[in-house]
Amino acid sequence: MERICIYPGSFDPITVGHMDLIRRASLLFDKVIVAVLHNPAKAGCFPVADRLALIRKACAHLSNVEVDSFSGLLADYVEKTGAIAVIRGLRNENDFANESLMAQVNQRINPHVETLMMMTKPEHACISSSVVREVASFGGDIAPFVPEEILADIQALFHKR
Ligand code: PNS
Repeated sequence: MERICIYPGSFDPITVGHMDLIRRASLLFDKVIVAVLHNPAKAGCFPVADRLALIRKACAHLSNVEVDSFSGLLADYVEKTGAIAVIRGLRNENDFANESLMAQVNQRINPHVETLMMMTKPEHACISSSVVREVASFGGDIAPFVPEEILADIQALFHKR
């Protein structure tokens, strides 16, 4: 049986912190599906299609990583894909509070959904998609926060906005 994990999120845009988690999860599972939530009620900064393209390019070197989008409940998506786990990153106690709640809700919705928390590397603890958006919006350098191979693409998307 193929052991699949889902890494769900907004990825608006993907950061080096996300990438580190994807790389580490790809060593633990047969397949990692990076799943971008498509939420029609919340447009986000970048269109989902652009986010998917950025993730695909950044993950091109990881042969067991797939990129997809989903809408609706994560618990239903997990069931549909046959995944055995959801992975989420923890940077600090705020993440712990939010993530433990989400994991418990998902398990209540579907008892098969097992959520595994992975600790973020300390050097990535201050990084988030919202930090990238904030720094970019004031013309700052986002190079330390996003994967090198998609830096120019993200900068171009910000300029297009
Ligand atoms: O990157 P984010 O924004 O922290 O990711 C949050 C995400 C997409 C994982 C979460 O909002 C989610 O799974 N949404 C789908 C709807 C759902 O299943 N909600 C119930 C769990 S509280």
